[in-house]
Amino acid sequence: MNRTPSPSRLPRLPLMALALLALLLGLWAGLLRLGWHIPTLTPQLLLLHGPLMVAGFLGTMISLERAVALSQTGSRRRLAYLAPLLAGLGVVALFLPVSPLIPRGLSTLGALGLVLIFVIIYRLQPSLEHAIMSLGACLWLVGNALWLLGQPVFRAVPWWAGFLVLTIAGERLELARVLVLKQSARRLLLLSVGILSAGLVISLFAYDAGVRLCGLGLAALGLWLLRYDLARRTIRQKGLTRYIAACLLPGYAWLLLGGLLWLAFGGVPAGPKYDAMLHTVFVGFVLSMIFGHALIIIPAVMGVQLRYTPAFYIPLGLLHLSLLLRIMGDLFLWLPVRQWGGLLNEVAVLLFLGLVVFSARRR
Ligand code: HEM
Repeated sequence: MNRTPSPSRLPRLPLMALALLALLLGLWAGLLRLGWHIPTLTPQLLLLHGPLMVAGFLGTMISLERAVALSQTGSRRRLAYLAPLLAGLGVVALFLPVSPLIPRGLSTLGALGLVLIFVIIYRLQPSLEHAIMSLGACLWLVGNALWLLGQPVFRAVPWWAGFLVLTIAGERLELARVLVLKQSARRLLLLSVGILSAGLVISLFAYDAGVRLCGLGLAALGLWLLRYDLARRTIRQKGLTRYIAACLLPGYAWLLLGGLLWLAFGGVPAGPKYDAMLHTVFVGFVLSMIFGHALIIIPAVMGVQLRYTPAFYIPLGLLHLSLLLRIMGDLFLWLPVRQWGGLLNEVAVLLFLGLVVFSARRR
């Protein structure tokens, strides 16, 4: 491993640190929301779990990843780092004695920055995957704008879910370039994205109906990914390729299940059903995809090399089994099962982070 970061890599370290800080605080807040008796740290932390996870951790990480890619195409494009910087500063501002408009405004500006990054990326390389990711960034912007305008978090949540799902689906298409899509497959993909987007717009006026339509779109996307992603073939290979497929396939199944729950339950604003609707998507799909793609993306973003080891299956298995527990706890109202499932979700995330650090150091 190259241990000395080059000057061009230096701005990435504090930005990555801000994203990780948001993740750790978000995980702590998640335990508080589950009812574990742990110190509250700050009075507002309990309410900040969602914003910390989506706008803080993933918003900063995704903007950083795109800023790195764009800055490599020209020195003047370093301005792109403003997007993750604003999103990251939004995390810090959440804990300062300032008006809530400040962190929400910073995060919204960060999302605007990501939209602009994608405008440039799309002009350089117009493609279906970049169009889908650009739409994802716009959804983040709308979700943050709702939050900035004082709407309750649950109103922003479908937009945030749309942001993450479309960004990840677009990245999947980008990484699996070899996948040659037939016209009919492209149409089905666009139809699913269209249903999801229509559901989001409708949720602004008729929340319950909009969320249900979003559910249909999410389930259709899950099915599409299960059907057309190369992972069904690469699961028969070996090593890292097989491990990535083992992250993707259950992730798609969770997205399908999550979509069906959204369709069945509709506009629930809190509680166990809400937990199941959200975390089938956020933990089952989003985190599983991150477990798979991190081994490709972290080296590209941070300029370090990570060595794959089969030990990566341990956090992956724990993540899915504990999520199964948690969702059963949610659906059958077994509260301790839900609490332990959520706690073990977090153990899986921390174990994965530990393995990433360990595999980077060993090179
Ligand atoms: C890894 C372990 C996680 C735990 C233990 C956890 C825990 C929770 C809990 C208990 C709730 C409240 C549900 C209710 O109303 O009963 C919640 C809400 C939420 N979670 Fe998580 N979560 C985790 C991961 C994530 C991830 C990875 C994301 C995003 C990518 C996320 C985003 C959200 C959002 C947006 C909300 C809604 C917040 C609100 O309405 O204020 N969570 N989470």
